[in-house]
Amino acid sequence: MADHNRVRGLFKRFHAAEKGDDRATMGQLADKMAKELEIHTAIEEEIYYPAVSDLSEEVHDLVAEGLQEHHVAKELISELGAVERDSEQWVAKVKVLIEAIEHHAGEEETEMFPGVKRVMSDDDLTTLGNRLMDRKRQLGAPEPLIDLTKEELLAKARQQEIPGRSKMSRQELALTVDPRG
Ligand SMILES: [Fe+2]
Ligand SMILES: [Fe+2]
Repeated sequence: MADHNRVRGLFKRFHAAEKGDDRATMGQLADKMAKELEIHTAIEEEIYYPAVSDLSEEVHDLVAEGLQEHHVAKELISELGAVERDSEQWVAKVKVLIEAIEHHAGEEETEMFPGVKRVMSDDDLTTLGNRLMDRKRQLGAPEPLIDLTKEELLAKARQQEIPGRSKMSRQELALTVDPRG
């Protein structure tokens, strides 16, 4: 969820940069999206999906669909590298990537995660969460900003346009905010 909301902030900022015709920022944000999505899809495919896939038929089907949606996103990201950065085609591809990920993340949050939480024990969920965090670290994700106050985290979340920030706990904010700004 934290990864999803961090990326949603990037999407929002990309749309704003596009409105302002700020090509340099659009490029930086697209690079950040690609890096975030690379790590997030990897931890889901290596750890989360295999751990939950056999919990129920419903979750199993959602995992199968999720894998295909990851595939589409990765294709788009690799195509982005092959077209000219400031071209109309590049902008269109980023926008389609954003739409595809918004749909995918929304489906995970409204269907898959609730389906998993219904049947998995709290202990197992915590263990799974820790495994995801460990793998993220191995893949080069920065350490969460656990030492900041809630106000400091909120200020960063505001800068990063993270949706739902005002309702987040300090811990949720720490996990969601990008430490690299
Ligand atoms: Fe996913
Ligand atoms: Fe996800």
